[in-house]
Amino acid sequence: MKMDGKTVLVTGSTDGVGRYVAAKLAAAGARVLIHGRDRERAGTLADEIKRQGHSEPIFYQADLSSLAAARQLAETVLAEHKRLDVFISNAGIGSRTLGTERRTSADGHELRFAVNYLSGFLLAHLLLPLLKASAPSRIVNVASLGQHPLDFDDVMLTKGYTGTRAYAQSKLAQIMFTVDLARELEGSGVTVNALHPATYMNTTMVREGGITPISTVEQGGDAILHLATGDDVAGKSGLFFNGMQQSQANPQAYDEAARKRLRALSLELTGLSA
Ligand SMILES: NC(=O)c1ccc[n+]([C@@H]2O[C@H](COP(=O)([O-])OP(=O)(O)OC[C@H]3O[C@@H](n4cnc5c(N)ncnc54)[C@H](OP(=O)(O)O)[C@@H]3O)[C@@H](O)[C@H]2O)c1
Repeated sequence: MKMDGKTVLVTGSTDGVGRYVAAKLAAAGARVLIHGRDRERAGTLADEIKRQGHSEPIFYQADLSSLAAARQLAETVLAEHKRLDVFISNAGIGSRTLGTERRTSADGHELRFAVNYLSGFLLAHLLLPLLKASAPSRIVNVASLGQHPLDFDDVMLTKGYTGTRAYAQSKLAQIMFTVDLARELEGSGVTVNALHPATYMNTTMVREGGITPISTVEQGGDAILHLATGDDVAGKSGLFFNGMQQSQANPQAYDEAARKRLRALSLELTGLSA
């Protein structure tokens, strides 16, 4: 896909793999909407992009542990842009971000489920009219190979919480949403795919988890860019990729009844069903 004149939103682009992806897209000529919580980190990235002679990215500050903030982010993007060609839902927290204890979001939901999945679900739905108007357009959900089936009797993990399980169920929820949304978007010109970018890239999330990185940000970032811009994936939708390769996700992603339950729960929690 030629990126000249295209508008791309990359959540979680003030750090890690999102930062790399945003810089590459700006270098390819896209108007890049960067996002994160930290204005200073965003400023450093914007300066770097400008110094290299590319258009200055536009920064949107929003804490995605609050659904109101996610909604506000979508509303601002809708108000300020006439098109959105690619939405990369990348912001996320790791299994040990902010410690090993169970935490909740501003809305009282389990924190990893809220930040990694629910906010992206809400953003994608609110941005859909603009994505449809800009078709052919793409949504890329940055998920993981770390996947754990959701227990619909305790999605908020009030019992037996571990950060690893919380992270992995949030990542599978993203993939289930991808499969589900692709069906809904058939014929609209908007595609949606999910991926595991790379294993243990050298990012803040991995380092703060006490894990020794084994992949580079470039490896994972190039896999994200492949789904966001690659000609070979144009028209492909509802798929899960492991890096550059199409792959299979946890069986729950292909369980229609489970996806239906997740969809109903997500619509209710985000207020979209109202
Ligand atoms: N690293 C890996 O090996 C790996 C493997 C598989 C999948 N992934 C996925 O790749 C994505 C990016 O991860 P990364 O490794 O690049 O992580 P990272 O370096 O820790 O960056 C995370 C990004 O998300 C943003 N973010 C975190 N919490 C947020 C919140 N509450 N509200 C808004 N923004 C928030 C951060 O913004 P601030 O600057 O405001 O903190 C930052 O820009 C994640 O979805 C992750 O699950 C990573």
